[in-house]
Amino acid sequence: MRAVTWQGKRDVRVENVPDPRIEEPTDAIIRITSSGLCGSDLHLYEVLTPFMTPGDILGHEPMGIVEEVGAGVPDLQAGDRVVVPFQIACGDCWMCLTGLPTQCETTQVTSEGMGAPLFGYTRLYGAVPGAQAEYLRVPQAQFGPIKIPEGPADDRFVYLSDVLPTAWQAVKYADVPKGGSVAVLGLGPIGDMACRVAQLQGAGQVFGVDLVPERLKRVRDRGVETYDLRSFDDEKELVAAIRDATDGRGPDAVIDAVGTEAHGSAAAKLAQSAAAIMPRKISGPFAERFSVDRLAALYTAIDLVRRGGTISLSGVYGGMADPIPLLTLFDKQIQLRMGQANVRRWADEILPYLTDEDPLGVDEFATHRVPLSDAPHAYEMFQRKQEGAIKVLMKP
Ligand SMILES: NC(=O)c1ccc[n+]([C@@H]2O[C@H](COP(=O)([O-])OP(=O)(O)OC[C@H]3O[C@@H](n4cnc5c(N)ncnc54)[C@H](O)[C@@H]3O)[C@@H](O)[C@H]2O)c1
Ligand SMILES: [Zn+2]
Ligand SMILES: [Zn+2]
Repeated sequence: MRAVTWQGKRDVRVENVPDPRIEEPTDAIIRITSSGLCGSDLHLYEVLTPFMTPGDILGHEPMGIVEEVGAGVPDLQAGDRVVVPFQIACGDCWMCLTGLPTQCETTQVTSEGMGAPLFGYTRLYGAVPGAQAEYLRVPQAQFGPIKIPEGPADDRFVYLSDVLPTAWQAVKYADVPKGGSVAVLGLGPIGDMACRVAQLQGAGQVFGVDLVPERLKRVRDRGVETYDLRSFDDEKELVAAIRDATDGRGPDAVIDAVGTEAHGSAAAKLAQSAAAIMPRKISGPFAERFSVDRLAALYTAIDLVRRGGTISLSGVYGGMADPIPLLTLFDKQIQLRMGQANVRRWADEILPYLTDEDPLGVDEFATHRVPLSDAPHAYEMFQRKQEGAIKVLMKP
């Protein structure tokens, strides 16, 4: 089959690889009909390269049609239409039953000290072949895949694999009081959808921050109050502007939907010079122990949130030596919640909103639908935020 493979820093290629086969009774094989390109893939493209192996198949946001199932997958059969969560979990252990499939005790990548494995996401997460491909082997298929109705186009459901539950969890963790305020930093697919979910769940004021004009415009058109980072001299000014709009206090919650590749103002770059002298470029186990993230967005979140408020982190950070201002976090009495989205925990709450009325605007959410063969260009375009790319779906 054809699959998008990682070959090196900023080098992905579409190659012929062996078709996946059923290996365990709890496996299913899915013929992929749509597969998302995610901000998380961009980390692999450039930053997390020490944890990748040339030839790794990328992708973790799939949906498609069941081709074949193992003997241990009673509820699925060939022909079923399914969305596949980006994490692999058993559904039956203590963690899964608590609603934390990202921490599944059956599938945890214990060799790396990590939680549940993810499709197409480095050896830290199990080096599981990913979903930007024609076919996907889905382990633990007795739990993962979500059956969805026939009829609407893939766009209606594909975001259940990642974007929707991630945005949903971001807002749940943000714990915005009814009618309260929330600022969303980063308006890529995750931040954009988090704004929509916050509105749906009754936030009174939603602020969106980014530095890409079409991303700002898209959420502004849906009633979000937007702030263009580029129009401020530094983050302090941005924070002051949003504080002014919240009785001088700052929003009840801040969602960081940026993560490790944050762009900061010149001032923020200076403030991070402590981080800059850390040995970031070294690779392998050292990178794991000493690496430092670009923390501009997280620092803004800490400064911006009101005292006693909540920061909800969905942006992915990978550093082991990040300088964090604990004095401020403690003094401001900030709640900090984070993690990969527990997809099956939220899917049943989200499904009723995936209707013809389309309150979350999923039908028009993708800006680009491309064949697998265009993957190298799609990665580059999405990373550089060119051609108006906000969400890209690959159609094998
Ligand atoms: N927790 C999870 O389960 C989960 C799931 C999916 C994605 N993610 C993570 O969420 C983050 C966002 O994903 P995405 O697909 O939307 O990616 P993306 O890269 O398209 O979006 C990030 C956005 O942040 C903006 N940005 C950069 N620096 C900023 C700053 N200082 N302030 C405000 N905005 C800034 C960028 O312009 C960009 O629009 C990534 O880190 C991704 O890995 C987490
Ligand atoms: Zn994703
Ligand atoms: Zn489990």
